[in-house]
Amino acid sequence: MKILFLNGPNLNLLGQRQPEVYGTTTLADIESAVRVQAEGRAEIEFRQTNDEGELVTWIQDAASSVDAAVINAAGYTHTSVALRDSIAASDVPVIEIHLSNIHAREEFRHNSLIAPVCEGQICGFGPTSYVLGLEAALSLKMD
Ligand code: DQA
Repeated sequence: MKILFLNGPNLNLLGQRQPEVYGTTTLADIESAVRVQAEGRAEIEFRQTNDEGELVTWIQDAASSVDAAVINAAGYTHTSVALRDSIAASDVPVIEIHLSNIHAREEFRHNSLIAPVCEGQICGFGPTSYVLGLEAALSLKMD
């Protein structure tokens, strides 16, 4: 099984970005933790971009290359109709994740445009949200 992890804007700054909200763990640390958890269970591809169009292209390409995708779309979660449309158009199951609990934060973060077209949403567990996202993706295989 191959699982694609996609990370949106500003997640490259994890570790130094608003540590009171996002903690001090870097994206590279999170990637390592996911890879350890996936060992012998799934092949992992892990990417980050600040570019909305690149995320859309990656979702489009996922159809022919992976079994599931786990996405932290960051700020685009709340704004991107294009990203939502790409997920809706894809046959690949997509799991939405966030480090923070978006429902406990500012009002504008409560709405996820991508949630209705994802398999489910995991948020609020810090870096563990990624590991839970992996487990959710692996569980889809058993359906
Ligand atoms: C985030 C939550 C988003 O609201 C925010 O724009 C982010 C990170 C999270 O992982 O908690 O950049 O997706």
